[in-house]
Amino acid sequence: MIKEVPYNQYMVEVDKKLTSRGIFLTSKADKINTMVIGWGGITFFWGRPVFLVAVRKSRYTHQLIEQSGEFTVSVPGEKDLKEALRFCGSKSGRDYDKFKECDLTALPGQKVSVPVIGQCSLHYECKVVYKQDMIPENLNAELNRRWYPDYHTMYFGEIVACYLTDENF
Ligand SMILES: Cc1cc2nc3c(=O)[nH]c(=O)nc-3n(C[C@H](O)[C@H](O)[C@H](O)COP(=O)(O)O)c2cc1C
Repeated sequence: MIKEVPYNQYMVEVDKKLTSRGIFLTSKADKINTMVIGWGGITFFWGRPVFLVAVRKSRYTHQLIEQSGEFTVSVPGEKDLKEALRFCGSKSGRDYDKFKECDLTALPGQKVSVPVIGQCSLHYECKVVYKQDMIPENLNAELNRRWYPDYHTMYFGEIVACYLTDENF
């Protein structure tokens, strides 16, 4: 089943999962791939709902989003998907087919060419409307020392669809 929901209905729940175990960021160009994100969130820019994700340049996902300009975010519901989160948050799609390794189902996107993850309950389909490579000189010096030099690109993805595939989120 697919039940459309307002983009901002589950912001608190998404934030909790994002900042604890992480959630899935899926991309597709030549290949389908997913990784785990822990930073970012749902926000509102230019009069549009936006999912902001921060992807380091070293990630395979970075390459795929650069190619397609689209991504999806899938949030686990009652199934905690701990093992899949561990694998997808540490191995690169350059070396593994993570959908195959973790037995994840790629369900076709409704409005984008990138799939969502069937084992998750809540999904956001996004089209990049703005991106920004971090400017090291603009960052607080202590944070710069702590988290870099593998800088992030911030992708602002307009949320073009938001829905549940499981009633029990
Ligand atoms: C809880 C958690 C949160 C993470 N958050 C991010 C993030 O926000 N941005 C990022 O670039 N990498 C993040 N990572 C690391 C990527 O998920 C990891 O490097 C992944 O293997 C990249 O896959 P890829 O090379 O297939 O794109 C996180 C990992 C974990 C476990």
